[in-house]
Amino acid sequence: MKILVLNGSPKREGSDTLHITRAFLEGMEEVSAQDVRIVHVIDRHIEYCTGCFSCMHNGGTCVHDDDMREILEAILESDLLVWSFPLYSYGMPAHLKALLDRTLPLSSMAMRKVGERYEHVGQADYSRLRYLMICGCGFPNSRQNFEPAVAQFRLCFRGDRTIMTVPESPMFNAPQAAVVTEPRLALIRKAGRQYAETGAVEEALLAEIGSPMIPEETYAAIVNGGV
Ligand SMILES: Cc1cc2nc3c(=O)[nH]c(=O)nc-3n(C[C@H](O)[C@H](O)[C@H](O)COP(=O)(O)O)c2cc1C
Repeated sequence: MKILVLNGSPKREGSDTLHITRAFLEGMEEVSAQDVRIVHVIDRHIEYCTGCFSCMHNGGTCVHDDDMREILEAILESDLLVWSFPLYSYGMPAHLKALLDRTLPLSSMAMRKVGERYEHVGQADYSRLRYLMICGCGFPNSRQNFEPAVAQFRLCFRGDRTIMTVPESPMFNAPQAAVVTEPRLALIRKAGRQYAETGAVEEALLAEIGSPMIPEETYAAIVNGGV
């Protein structure tokens, strides 16, 4: 499977979240060989969308001539698009949001009603594309934290999508936390295997992966220097 990973962490290879993403990909690779490309979005030249909408009228060409042209081509050549990012202010980091906005050339101006909502009709064919969101965060709680990012992802990507959220993710970069992060990474590899085998991850497994690795109060106490 051709997999494009958009790493939205400005920490690049040092990303806490990328530990989660790499474990998931390792699980997939245990089932079958994968063709993986990771793009560190922070290093790419991606201008902000100007809101001119010309891309929706002229066959999909943006007024900006920057790295987004190549990234759009890479998206269209992929089977799976992985959005790997840390939660920032309950959403995605600004540079990744800039990339998301710049996917507008994939849509035309025409809109259609789907259930209770409207969406733009595609002007490129990306119907075979599958989506995976992997999001780490610094707080120990998932509720009252991940909801805005999850809601945005669900609305933006209506097709075949999987969402994995993991709290307490700075622990993945702490060697002394290996006693709890290694079992969690093993669960994430299992999720990767499931995904490669069946095209989905069981809800119960996603919930387990999304639960705190250590009790919330203990985590907060460690962060606060009390343990
Ligand atoms: C600007 C900024 C905003 C953040 N906002 C949140 C937040 O809303 N909720 C949360 O739990 N963590 C938040 N965090 C913490 C990061 O999500 C956390 O440190 C994460 O592990 C970083 O992942 P990375 O190493 O993959 O970049 C924020 C961090 C920064 C720098």
